[in-house]
Amino acid sequence: MTFRWFLVFSFSIAVAAIDDDLIPSTLDGPFEPVTVPYDVSLRGNAVDLPDTDPRVRRCVEGFEPEQISVSLSVNYDSVWISWITGEFQIGNNIKPLNPNTVASVVRYGRSRVPLTDEASGYSLVYNQLYPFEGLQNYTSGIIHHVRLTGLRHSGYLTLTQFMQSLISRTPIMVIEGNHEIEEQAGKQSFVAYRSRFAFPSEESKSSSPFYYSFNAGGIHFIMLGAYVDYSKSAKQYKWLERDLANVDRSMTPWLVAAWHPPWYNTYTAHYKEAECMRLEMEELLYSYGVDIVFNGHVHAYERSNRVYNYTLDPCGPVHITVGDGGNREKMAIEHADEAANCPEPSSTHDEDMGGFCATNFTSGPAAGKFCWDQQPDYSAFRESSFGHGILEVKNETWALWTWYRNQDSSGKVGDQVYIVRQPELCLGSIKLPKSSFADS
Ligand SMILES: [Fe+2]
Repeated sequence: MTFRWFLVFSFSIAVAAIDDDLIPSTLDGPFEPVTVPYDVSLRGNAVDLPDTDPRVRRCVEGFEPEQISVSLSVNYDSVWISWITGEFQIGNNIKPLNPNTVASVVRYGRSRVPLTDEASGYSLVYNQLYPFEGLQNYTSGIIHHVRLTGLRHSGYLTLTQFMQSLISRTPIMVIEGNHEIEEQAGKQSFVAYRSRFAFPSEESKSSSPFYYSFNAGGIHFIMLGAYVDYSKSAKQYKWLERDLANVDRSMTPWLVAAWHPPWYNTYTAHYKEAECMRLEMEELLYSYGVDIVFNGHVHAYERSNRVYNYTLDPCGPVHITVGDGGNREKMAIEHADEAANCPEPSSTHDEDMGGFCATNFTSGPAAGKFCWDQQPDYSAFRESSFGHGILEVKNETWALWTWYRNQDSSGKVGDQVYIVRQPELCLGSIKLPKSSFADS
């Protein structure tokens, strides 16, 4: 099965000679900060498709399956298949479907005919109840999740007529953002997020859909929750300590972490918003040599130099913000280091994240100030454009990151760098934070 990321980034594995010396590598860094000027001919905001658009209209009848998607499980030989049967309802008199009326079965095989294997899973419906004026209630179709195990990598998984759209072939791994909170009656939140997607939570021993990990393509991926408790005393942090301690770098030399709001963001939008999370978790991730961090939330693109605690550090991760998939909130175009665009500190508080930790810098050229007066040294490249990126792991130490602007043809590159690991320099003596395993 060919795995490619779709939502945020993609990866592929290739063993190839690295001979393109025109592409910079992080060994050439730290790079002088670059800001690509905003192209005002870009519209700068995305528009929701109307529900009459054929691309978002329901195109099946009765209980035919739809919205089929694949997620990875914890390891190479296992995936989750999810799909929906039956129609959702919206209004004031909704009647939830009975999830037991349709079986959750996937038939699969190494060729289209015959389908030799079968797996069963579970099904559910979820409701969004809004006892607020002007809002209607919602109940979903029947959502099915089935885990397939014992898959062979060289084979090709065939799922009868299910494999019709991209995400039925391309595993997507999701992590919650602020828009998934969707608080409803009874203070319930994240209901659609938890119901619609399958997560390798049990398999990665987190037992939570809000943070989990998995292995793919020589990478151990860690997905973290920014909108659930991330403090050192919380379950998530304890799980992260155990997960990091169990990574086998001989099997997965690359360590990639992802969560929603970026720590290293120089746009005015969401500037220093995730400082409390950074203060709790950055030391632990750094101590285990996390190579790359992917974030969203800010609707623009930015790639950092290797950085730790706001200081250039050859062993710090490269932070990449690719929150540029498009959003009607419009593109982020203002930089906190431009005159008049440095936000007032108290305005950077996000109550969904809890706490307030954004303070002035304590060292460096901006010591004593809330913002730099030029693009900070930890910001290597930034551009206000919608786009997407692909991460290609070449071998144990070299990976190629390429970012594309959505408005360009597929061959045109917006930003490209080889990210190079230096395990002999950075993993020689792992120094864990004092709190590590203190009371776990
Ligand atoms: Fe967001």
